[in-house]
Amino acid sequence: MKALVLSGGKGTRLRPFTYSMAKQLVPVANKPVLIHCLENIRDIGVREVGVVVGDHAEEIGSVVGDGSGLGLRITYIRQAEPLGLAHCVSVAADFLGDDDFVMYLGDNVFAEGIEASAATFAARRPDAQVTVVKVPDARQYGVAEVDRDGVVRALVEKPREPRSDLAVTGVYFFTPAIHEAVRSIRPSARGELEITDALQFLVERGRTVIAQEHTGFWKDTGSIDELLECNRVLLERLSGDIRGTVDGESTVRGTVVIEPGAVVTRSHLVGPLVIGAGSHVGDSRIGPGTALGRDCVVQDADIEESIVLEGAHVTGVPRLRGSIIGRWTDVRAAGRTEANHLIIGDHTRAWVAA
Ligand code: G1P
Repeated sequence: MKALVLSGGKGTRLRPFTYSMAKQLVPVANKPVLIHCLENIRDIGVREVGVVVGDHAEEIGSVVGDGSGLGLRITYIRQAEPLGLAHCVSVAADFLGDDDFVMYLGDNVFAEGIEASAATFAARRPDAQVTVVKVPDARQYGVAEVDRDGVVRALVEKPREPRSDLAVTGVYFFTPAIHEAVRSIRPSARGELEITDALQFLVERGRTVIAQEHTGFWKDTGSIDELLECNRVLLERLSGDIRGTVDGESTVRGTVVIEPGAVVTRSHLVGPLVIGAGSHVGDSRIGPGTALGRDCVVQDADIEESIVLEGAHVTGVPRLRGSIIGRWTDVRAAGRTEANHLIIGDHTRAWVAA
């Protein structure tokens, strides 16, 4: 079995970060979302992985490399334009050959991995398998109608009136039967070749498509709020590991990861949190749900439920909550008598205390 990881797309809802980085490289719990995906793939025993890339091909290649660091063999497959998930399967046809494969959307987070889905596929060997999750409002997803045996009766992409509460997540298992389906469908109203339509094509031709319900945590990191939630959930699953230095005037509670070379002085740390390699935290409180990237400097600040990316400086800022601070940025308190001074790029958002 091979894997096909989709890592193209524009990530418009994650602006401004996606102006300068691929959405799949935005870190959750200090690791790019894409690396979490690749680790889950490795954990089901697959080694041969095709990664479909678009505009951010070079940057993704420089982070993931040939996959050997993860125990994988990675082949990059270029998709010239983002024409849909089924289109990705057709551009990867040579790589996939006649093998079964798992297709994994590179912005999806499955906190407990995908082993249950892989086991069901191996045991029942349907023509195709979707992984579904019960959601309160399925309108923004592919939606599956499923009978009692888990056999899919119909699939619809983003229906206005969903006929079930089962959202199709970003992990699919395919046999080579999918190739004829992706060649046969036409673009949807949004101009994309939808994988949901290819699956519906299989259902209509009497092929067996089954649905595996995933009961653990699943989200796609499509929006800022989802990203923060994924960060929190993945932090909760870490085990504490202090490799950097924490001075005697600091306190540590809960699950705390401090990467090598990080230095914490006169500060209070309340996990789950991670402080990246080479970062300096002084006279601060870092609260639960916070991931500081590498080489950050946090001084006289109080941060909680936030993601601070590589190289950012945060100085004198009280009560920073639910925030994502971009790479190599500088956020600091102005003195009481000074005016606010903001240099804010396109599509950024700033809430300042009144
Ligand atoms: C895609 C699929 C959709 C699926 C979703 C899961 O949607 O088309 O069926 O439910 O991923 O993340 P998109 O993110 O392209 O809107």
